[in-house]
Amino acid sequence: MQDDFKKLRAENARLHSLLKITQSLASVLDLETLLSRIMDEVCLNLKADRCTVFLLDTDTNELWSKVAKGVKKEIRFPADKGIAGHTATTREVLNIPDAYADPRFNPEIDKKTGYKTKNILTMPMHNNLNEVIGVFQVLNRIDGPFTKQDEELLQAISYIAASAVENAQLYDEVNKSFISFIETLSTTLDARDYITSGHSRRVTLYAVEISHLMRLSKAEVDIIRYASLLHDIGKIGIPEIVLFKNKQLTEEEYEIIKRHANLSKSILSKIHFQKHLREIPMIASTHHEKIDGSGYPLGLKGSQIPLGGKILAVCDVFDALTSRRQYRDRMEIEKVVELLENETGSSFEPFIVYQFKNIPLNILIQILEFGHNDDLDTNDLKILKDYTLKDIIQVRKKNQKTEKEIELERIFMRYYSRKYRI
Ligand SMILES: [Fe+2]
Repeated sequence: MQDDFKKLRAENARLHSLLKITQSLASVLDLETLLSRIMDEVCLNLKADRCTVFLLDTDTNELWSKVAKGVKKEIRFPADKGIAGHTATTREVLNIPDAYADPRFNPEIDKKTGYKTKNILTMPMHNNLNEVIGVFQVLNRIDGPFTKQDEELLQAISYIAASAVENAQLYDEVNKSFISFIETLSTTLDARDYITSGHSRRVTLYAVEISHLMRLSKAEVDIIRYASLLHDIGKIGIPEIVLFKNKQLTEEEYEIIKRHANLSKSILSKIHFQKHLREIPMIASTHHEKIDGSGYPLGLKGSQIPLGGKILAVCDVFDALTSRRQYRDRMEIEKVVELLENETGSSFEPFIVYQFKNIPLNILIQILEFGHNDDLDTNDLKILKDYTLKDIIQVRKKNQKTEKEIELERIFMRYYSRKYRI
């Protein structure tokens, strides 16, 4: 009677843990977070010291793990090697009470890491089609070797984890194909508009940096990133004779150029964006709006312009003025900042200009010199890292400079004013 009661209690606890694990895994779509959570749950429920989930890469036939507790880098090895490989190929559950007494165990990893493996439990992870998608490797149960109950519990966790992992992988694939689509569209524009090649990329890098300085959420940063990549996509619909004219534009021609903002909106509105990305067409099409209402295409004012559009407006102008063209160099950096400041409050949102001036110089130089980053000296970047755009402007305006300031200006200007074929 007592035994039955004990069994019932143990079974109840097991079901309770499984329910908690199901709830905990069901809400996670990010693969890295999910794997980390699965490993934590396994360690906790099997009272183990370490757990690794190796996923099977069917393209390379390797097992890999992105996050293993205590190991930072990605681990990859042939899918038939080692104890995990044995389980992946034979589908056999291995419960090894003494690792060093088992000839399949490779002690080399312990030697490298200083870890002492005592006992091991490995289990394959199957999908709905009964294909192996990964392997659990659990190490060092705290109270001695793994039991039959541990095997059963891991088996049950494995079923729950497999469907969560497949979901996350699918979500990851969908995201990757979406991002590659957006990037291809942006590259298509750059390929046509060779004069401003790289503009969309650089504007994106500035906009993302400002978004981070403003501590926007990852979802907000993503919207701004994609809107930035595509903000000028409407230029595809502008005739080349106007777009590439290297003389002063007539008023009529300027009106034609201005159409690109609306065109960006109508092109992007054709894309089926996921719900959380639906603001992209609106943000992209407001990058020429000004907060005093004097911009285009709609003449929106202040709060009518989305934050992303306001960020883009500053980044767009900064990049246009600091880009090298075949017929002219970059505008002097003090003049660029002066121009931004003069239009703060009329064209630009003050807080965004303020944040733009807070961009660290190492990042600013990497964006300005995008496409030439191989030429950047890492020691120079280390020095620039401690200063911002605001600092370099102050230094440039000073009459009496310290040695440190002279060095900072020399490094920054060496890149800012260097000349090479475009
Ligand atoms: Fe534009």
